[in-house]
Amino acid sequence: MRVFEPAEPDTIRAWRWTERGLYLLDQRLLPRREVYVRCRTWREVRKAIRDMVVRGAPAIGITAAIGLVLGAEGLRARTRRAFLAGLRRIAQGLAKARPTAVNLFWALDRMVRRAENETDAGPGELVEILRREALSIWEEDLAANRRMGRFGADLLPEEGTVLTHCNAGALATGGYGTALGVIRAAVEAGKRLSVLADETRPYLQGARLTAWEMKKVGIPVAVIPDAAAGFLMARGVVRAVIVGADRIAANGDVANKIGTYTLAVLAREHGIPFYVAAPSSTFDLGCPSGGEIPIEERAPEEVHFCVGKRITPAGTNAVNPAFDLTPASLITALVTERGVIKPPYAENIPLVLSGEAQTP
Ligand code: MRU
Repeated sequence: MRVFEPAEPDTIRAWRWTERGLYLLDQRLLPRREVYVRCRTWREVRKAIRDMVVRGAPAIGITAAIGLVLGAEGLRARTRRAFLAGLRRIAQGLAKARPTAVNLFWALDRMVRRAENETDAGPGELVEILRREALSIWEEDLAANRRMGRFGADLLPEEGTVLTHCNAGALATGGYGTALGVIRAAVEAGKRLSVLADETRPYLQGARLTAWEMKKVGIPVAVIPDAAAGFLMARGVVRAVIVGADRIAANGDVANKIGTYTLAVLAREHGIPFYVAAPSSTFDLGCPSGGEIPIEERAPEEVHFCVGKRITPAGTNAVNPAFDLTPASLITALVTERGVIKPPYAENIPLVLSGEAQTP
């Protein structure tokens, strides 16, 4: 049986991809159960992204790219033209899965462009080309995280506690993680760090997923209620904050999991460095500032219910923005696989991403 995976995958993987389909580790059930959901069609992949079986910006992009391959395999097109028309239709369908993480649109655009640029290939060859492209997206993301980890590790203290929010680890990416990758790299380099994981209501990505990942890789972790962060900063417990991102605008404003903005304000108040780690595929230079980033509003039920139990009185309203916006002015540095970007972001983002400037 053919298995599609990077040459050196991370030990923690959000999915397994074989010729029998895409098997997604159901992140809704972690840490209690490790169950894989099988997707055989692009519509099943879209539903899995919507329902948060798989989540995290880079992981959503990689999953969508593989979903597009599953869709391409099912196309009955006899000509290249009909194939490309079908491919574009499926890409548009997959793009409706979730609105905020730009990696989804980035990965789909890259896949469609790859097929369009193969001017001599017929439908059969195009499926194989797309399969290789999706695998490259996965491999490159994993390599980017390992590089980002090495850049970011230098920013963290030699010892102490680092606070993170949501899950920006291997489960949210092609492996190793962005924010958690930086922490892993620092620990691998000999730094004596422990992690405070915000539980991250309402989906509990911190309590369930970050804590699970940190245990798997042997890094000490303590889960805190989201509301405890300010108190612990005031007590001097937190040496640095590091989070991931779903989209970074041209001016450095960051969209990330709801609660990130609160942490950034608190970090500024307490003089604690606030870092954002993300690959270049998370930057949207077409978005001048955070105000143009669409923020997903999820179902109120996610607030009303906690681990399957209703916690609010019937008839109560709930508001559930899935992400918030952290202004660039509150961010100490952006860590990418191309280097560390410091303010002024509007000037330095294009320089570092294009490779014109080295990390300081
Ligand atoms: O709603 P989610 O779980 O997809 O949100 C995930 C986050 O906000 C992550 O911090 C972000 O995608 C970065 S993952 C490397």
